[in-house]
Amino acid sequence: MGVFLSNVNSDSKHLTYSSDLTEVLRLYYNLLMAKVRSKWICTECGYETAGYLGKCPECGSWGSFQEEFQYAQKPAINNSPVNEFVNTEKPALLKDIHIGDEVRVSTNISEFDRILGGGLVQGSLVLIAGDPGIGKSTILLQTSGELCKSNKKVLYVSAEESASQLKLRAQRLKINSDNLYVYPQTSMENIKTEIEDILPDVVVIDSIQAIYSQGVASSAGSVTQIRECCNLLMHIAKTKNITIVVIGHVTKDGNIAGPKVLEHMVDTVIYFEGDKYKSYRMLRAMKNRFGNTSEVGIFEMHSDGLREVKNPNELFLNERSQVAVPGSAIIVTNEGTRPLLVEVQALVGTTPYPTPRRVTNGVDTSRLLQILAVLEKRVGLNLSKQDVYVNVMGGIEVDEPSADLGIALAVATCARDVVVDSQTVIIGEIGLSGEIHPVSNIEKRLNEAAASGFKKAIIPYANTTDFDKIEIVRVKRLIDAITACVTPV
Ligand code: TYD
Ligand code: MG
Repeated sequence: MGVFLSNVNSDSKHLTYSSDLTEVLRLYYNLLMAKVRSKWICTECGYETAGYLGKCPECGSWGSFQEEFQYAQKPAINNSPVNEFVNTEKPALLKDIHIGDEVRVSTNISEFDRILGGGLVQGSLVLIAGDPGIGKSTILLQTSGELCKSNKKVLYVSAEESASQLKLRAQRLKINSDNLYVYPQTSMENIKTEIEDILPDVVVIDSIQAIYSQGVASSAGSVTQIRECCNLLMHIAKTKNITIVVIGHVTKDGNIAGPKVLEHMVDTVIYFEGDKYKSYRMLRAMKNRFGNTSEVGIFEMHSDGLREVKNPNELFLNERSQVAVPGSAIIVTNEGTRPLLVEVQALVGTTPYPTPRRVTNGVDTSRLLQILAVLEKRVGLNLSKQDVYVNVMGGIEVDEPSADLGIALAVATCARDVVVDSQTVIIGEIGLSGEIHPVSNIEKRLNEAAASGFKKAIIPYANTTDFDKIEIVRVKRLIDAITACVTPV
């Protein structure tokens, strides 16, 4: 409103001196143009419309439209950051293009470096997204402390916590650095001025939803504000060659509030996941213009901050019962370049409902439905009147097909009240006719299983290997796998 009123006042001075009709008309036009407009924006994809829509015509999501108020004036800068930095005057031949050396800054936290593809790339914009309270501020304050140890200048912009709150957290994390600037601030313009003044190597923005730009009239956290602030940050990162790490909170439905727009603008998107009620946390790269996207880093939350977990298998398998129980199987899933051993549990029981339930945790439900269909048709297991629950222990999400065989064996052993030997790992993808397909990186997976003390592995027949540290059983069909490793209780 401030902009609108001041515009009118300044022009109305002219009116007292001029009785010219055109001047009156010009003023009237200004008044009309300065009125507040409202528009509806899809929080999923950024699609704009004049009125409310139940379903987004662009991305198909329901109930995702949010109303935003805007003055009819131009935003501070162009709304297309990507184009702004890719625009060149003329096309050039690929062979003539020279690339400068990509400068990476190590965070001194090896798990974090691995996800980033070897450290923070200078001049890049990184988004760390996660649920509130998962530990985003903690890991970035720790990272800032580590960066300062290697003589990097870091500016930590705290838009949610006061300087004394940050100091308390830093004391808890035992961070005591002379190079770390702390700046409690929410105005994007002030932040920009300070960045240009201090010229740090790395800037942390905690969080993007709490800062606002004066160039946009809508409130902080709205789609337009987030887009504009991200735009400005991208501009600073690229023109000043400063690495900017932005924290973004995730909404209830699992998407970063103010939305995919943010994901496609930044260079790297990292999700910070984990069970709030358990101590371990996972950093997962979802998009990385400078590295591998499937990497995962594992941390454990302690009273003095997050610590890296160098041997995650100990963490995920130590809660497991040492005696074999029906409905349990150990799989070896590949998380990026690292194999992880995890336990899959299944519970099968007669349903009290008209339609049997299929509930999954850590596995895609449609994948389970496919495995159940194969178990019914190719193995003869009747599950049509049974509820099936499948849970991947440790809060891990398994989306790799190599987990199929382990899931099938967990379900089958629970349904028949038999067990898979507790020293056996199960690896294999199941096809619709019950055949077992080969998987990638078999040697790496077997090595990990042997290192964790397993004695036997069931693997696809097509995966030939001369690995001899543990007993290997190669199977062609699902039914062969069941006969190879299942024993009575
Ligand atoms: P925080 O980093 O504030 O989360 P976010 O920024 O993602 O919202 O972390 C908050 C939680 O972490 C809080 O519940 C307390 C816990 N915590 C520890 O257990 N140990 C610690 O050393 C710190 C700093 C936080
Ligand atoms: Mg925080």
